[in-house]
Formats: sequence, C-alpha cells, structure tokens
Amino acid sequence: MEKVTRDWQNQYMVPLFCPPDFIPVKGQGCHVWDQEGREYIDISGGIAVNSLGHCNPELVKALTEQANKIWHVSNLHTSEPLLRLAKRITDATFADVAFFCNSGAEANEAALKLARRYALNHYGPEKDEIISFVKSFHGRTLFTVSVGGQDKYSKGFGPRPAEITHLPFNDIKALEEHISEKTCAVIMEPIQGESGIIPADREFMKKARELCDKYHALLVFDEVQTGNGRTGYLYAYMAYGVKPDIMTTAKGLAGGLPIGAMITRRTVGESFTPGVHGTTFGGNPLVCAVADKALSIINTKETLYGVKERSGLFFEGLNAIKERTGVFQLIRGMGLLIGCVLADRFAGHSGDFVRLGYKNGLFTLVAGPNVVRIAPSLNIPKEDIEEALKRFEKTAEEFRDQFGKED
Ligand SMILES: Cc1ncc(COP(=O)(O)O)c(C=O)c1O
Repeated sequence: MEKVTRDWQNQYMVPLFCPPDFIPVKGQGCHVWDQEGREYIDISGGIAVNSLGHCNPELVKALTEQANKIWHVSNLHTSEPLLRLAKRITDATFADVAFFCNSGAEANEAALKLARRYALNHYGPEKDEIISFVKSFHGRTLFTVSVGGQDKYSKGFGPRPAEITHLPFNDIKALEEHISEKTCAVIMEPIQGESGIIPADREFMKKARELCDKYHALLVFDEVQTGNGRTGYLYAYMAYGVKPDIMTTAKGLAGGLPIGAMITRRTVGESFTPGVHGTTFGGNPLVCAVADKALSIINTKETLYGVKERSGLFFEGLNAIKERTGVFQLIRGMGLLIGCVLADRFAGHSGDFVRLGYKNGLFTLVAGPNVVRIAPSLNIPKEDIEEALKRFEKTAEEFRDQFGKED
C-alpha cells in the first residue's frame, strides 16, 4: 500500500481541521503511537469519547462478535443489540423510551424537533420558543448551532431558525422574567463543555425544572459530553438531583464508535410517530452492540467510583502545577471533565498549550481560547495519570516561558 503522509490532509481534505503534523496509527489504553513510533499519553479521550481507552479488549470482542453476525439492517427492521441498549439505558435513567442516531448534534436535533412537535400536539402552534443559554454548545447542524449560544458557529449560513432565545447561564432572574407559555423547551448542558467547563448551579437547574413545570415546557439536558460516567455519575443530572424530560447523549456512549441517543418519557416520545423523524444508520447493530457493552462496564460502582478517585488525583496534581507554574488561575469541573483556566496573562493561548503538549508526548484539548481541557478515559491507570501530570507540568513550564513574556 502507498505510504500515507500528513500533506495528504491539505491535498485531499476540506480545510476545516488543522491536525498536528503527525498521524496517530495505533492506540492502546491511554497510549497512542504515531507513524514514527512516537508515543503519546492521551488525556483528551478523542474529545471525551474513548470512555474505556483505545481498543478496549471487551469492546473489541463485542465489536468483532457482532461484526460476524450482522452489521446493518436499517430502521426497516429492529435488532437485538438495539433493543438491549434501549432497555439498558432506559432502565438506568428517568426515561422510558429511546431514539438512537449517529452523533450529539443529531441527538439534539431530534430532541428539539420532538419538543416542538410535542408542544404543537398538546398546546398548539404558538408554543414554539426554545430557550437556550449564552455560550452553550449543542452541535453543528443549522438548528443546533442556532440553539447553541455562540454566534461564531451560527453566523454566515443564511437565515437561522426562528423563535430561539439565548439567556445568560446560571441567571435565575433572567429565566424567571423571560419564560412563558410560549416556551416549548429549555435546553442546557449540566456543565457547559466546549465553552470552558462551566457547571450549572444546582439552584439554577432546580429553578429551571420548576419553571418548565409551571409553563408546560420540556426541560432538555444535553449530556452529550457530561454523560456516560464522565462526571463520576452515570449522567450528570443524577449528581444534581434534577430530572429532565428529554436527555441527549453521544460521545462516550459507544467508547469510540459514532452514536447519539435521545431518551425521554413515554408520553413525550409518543409525539414521534412513524415518519415524523428518522435516520438510516441510527441504531445500527454493530454500534449498539459496542455501546451496550460499554454502558454495562461504565454503569458499575467500580467504574463510577474509579472516576471520582481518578478525578481526585488529577485535581490534586493540576492544582499543584497551578501553584508551581502560575500558568493557571483555576482548575474546575467534575469527575474526569476538567478545565484548567489560564491565568489572565495567557488568555487566548489554550491552543498553543495543546500544541506544546504534542511535543512532550501529551494529548490535551481546549475548551475555548482560555481553558485547557482534560477528558481522559474513565479507567485511565494511575501510573498513566502520574506520567501525564509530569508531561503536563513540563508543557506548562515551556508554555510559561514562551507565552508569558509580556508580564
Ligand atoms: C454538549 C455538546 N452537545 C453536542 C455536541 C455535538 O456533538 P457531535 O460533535 O457528536 O455532533 C457536543 C460536541 O462537542 C457537545 O459537547
């Protein structure tokens, strides 16, 4: 086979992405190797996706067993893996019924369409307003970028869908003043991920629940990133003790294969009757078999408690690095979704930190321009945490020397 080189990226790919100048070719656990055999510790988890590490043997087994049975039947037929996964996720949550698709954006698209259709069916066409929050992120389809609270993602594509309101996050007064009988849904991330790992206040979330009940609006939690054990709870709403009417998830659900899920109560789900919504690949048996196995491993005391333990190690290590280097002003987040907020003098440079990390054999992420994000696999071994923190500190020192000169 012809050798693939990094310049193929520029030659054959639409220039949406700017990957570094190496190509990862192999992954095992939290380690990745590139074409030259260089090793990296991955605490980015493929953007909070590889929940059980690269090539987890139990997931590989589930995948290969299903690969030898049947791959795809479309939604013209049902399948055993699909039904097993639907049972597992609804048994474990507030929900009665599930819809599967291929990504977080699609799950949110389905949730938003369902909320509007439910309101139409039960209250009439005037009830169509969706309330969302400034800086939220819900995906890249036109509807979901429009609902997301960041103009940079939604401007420049022509008219955006109407009747979407963005309110300040964690502002109870603004929500109280704005919500009305016209509101059909309030959508929020329990922890805003892409914009900097900003948790919802418990009081705010409780109030949103109360106000949705009062005004007959559906409360939608986007747990695309916070779901599937990421916070040390199976879903973050469980940590808050506030139940949504609809929840979406994706990312870590199948440990690295593309999947999205929208789950809800039966009475709400009933507004999706045949033909109202759909997908060709969603609920694919191959992906569902892996997701079912992943969720069965994640939803155990061992994994969820393990996330909390590992979180403690990261917080301790990162706070010490913050003190020693002065690069960060705050370490925040929950479980293994952690944001390291850059000190003001480094504002805007989170991408440079990630790039320096590559040089030191470390994969991290940004969460907006001012936050370095960490979202490793939930089962990262303790010795890998130690080594990752060493590489993180070395990166922070180099970063301070290169980007902190103006101080
Ligand atoms: C909270 C949240 N919602 C939705 C999405 C979109 O998911 P996807 O990229 O799988 O469409 C993301 C992705 O980062 C996310 O973090």
